[in-house]
Amino acid sequence: MVTIIVGGHFGDEGKGKIVSYLANKDDIDIVVRAGVGPNAGHTVFYKNRRYGLRMIPCGFVNESAVLLIGAGVLINPKRFLEEVNITKTKGRIFIDKRCGIIEDRHRMEDMSDTHLKREIGTTGSGCGPANAERAYRTIKLAKDIPELKSFITDVPLEINNAIENGKRILIEASQGFGLSLFYGTYPFVTSKDTSASMAAVDVGIGPTKVKEVIVVYKAYTTRVGEGPMKSMITEENIAKFPIWQDVLKDAQNKGIYGNDINDILSKYLDEWGTVTHRKRRVGIFDMELAKYSAMVNGATNICITCIDKIFPECKGVKEYDKLSKRAREYIENIEKEIGVNVTLLSTGPKSDDIIDLRL
Ligand code: GTP
Ligand code: IMP
Ligand code: MG
Repeated sequence: MVTIIVGGHFGDEGKGKIVSYLANKDDIDIVVRAGVGPNAGHTVFYKNRRYGLRMIPCGFVNESAVLLIGAGVLINPKRFLEEVNITKTKGRIFIDKRCGIIEDRHRMEDMSDTHLKREIGTTGSGCGPANAERAYRTIKLAKDIPELKSFITDVPLEINNAIENGKRILIEASQGFGLSLFYGTYPFVTSKDTSASMAAVDVGIGPTKVKEVIVVYKAYTTRVGEGPMKSMITEENIAKFPIWQDVLKDAQNKGIYGNDINDILSKYLDEWGTVTHRKRRVGIFDMELAKYSAMVNGATNICITCIDKIFPECKGVKEYDKLSKRAREYIENIEKEIGVNVTLLSTGPKSDDIIDLRL
């Protein structure tokens, strides 16, 4: 059975944490990374340690799972080997022979003073220049890199065989729908589509093999890098959102100060990029984008994270009925508007800070 996890807004929704929970809870046999490449930063807590992973699937926390990286994902060999060491996953992590390779020159170009950095605000990880080169058909592939030899496999063969044998497979995508090259806020997007169908292509399975698509949203919207953000909270509009007035009051009571309201909210909510350490802008839950994203992704169910950040009384809650009334109303409204069942709610960064409504 195949489940795909994708981001429903602008990335950083907490996919890493959700994957780490499901990998253990659902006895997943194979966790496979889809998405663009090491521009992603997935945060996961494991044995009291925080990991900011850019290459290795967050499902590594299930020590009996096989870990794979699909052909659509760009590999930075140095970063990949570092993470293999950090996560101690050698022997159970493999990458597709056709993964494109990010070289130093791609990173240099992404970090230099070009429109990528200045206007798009890329992560500087080299993904855009490498994908451009892939389209130009001059990129190196993983099979050409001697240091990667012992990790090479054929990911589509592995996964499709596992499906035949009734195994459970989790596909971990990266970024979010609003950053899709096709459907996002072009040109302020990443270098590839980021929807569930792309994730299936990334790892080499056909659409008929996918059983579940879980779209992950944060309880509010964040965006790092340049580009429009319709739901951004400002001095002018905060009066319209009582919940956010409460959040701001709480931040001010804690002595948090900033250049403007959004700066204060980013600090209070601890919204800093995992890869680039840039501030993430904060917005109310972008319902229009969420609905459109659930539609294009073919969401079978949805997950909402960071409930505790705007409803601190919900921190670490593990049963739905123990959430505050205002939090339950907030969640039920999202479910009703999107028209897809909410099955997972996250109430803290640790993998067991979760309400699993499937149980
Ligand atoms: P990308 O692939 O980069 O889009 O990342 P991601 O979706 O895996 O999210 P990322 O880890 O970058 O950001 C999510 C942040 O929220 C991390 O710091 C997580 O530890 C944290 N987080 C996730 N879920 C929760 C939650 O329910 N509550 C709290 N307080 N923090 C959470
Ligand atoms: P690139 O993917 O590095 O080319 O960056 C393009 C845009 O996508 C920039 O606005 C980045 O901030 C954003 N972006 C890329 N990857 C992520 C991610 O994993 N989380 C959030 N934003 C991302
Ligand atoms: Mg991230």
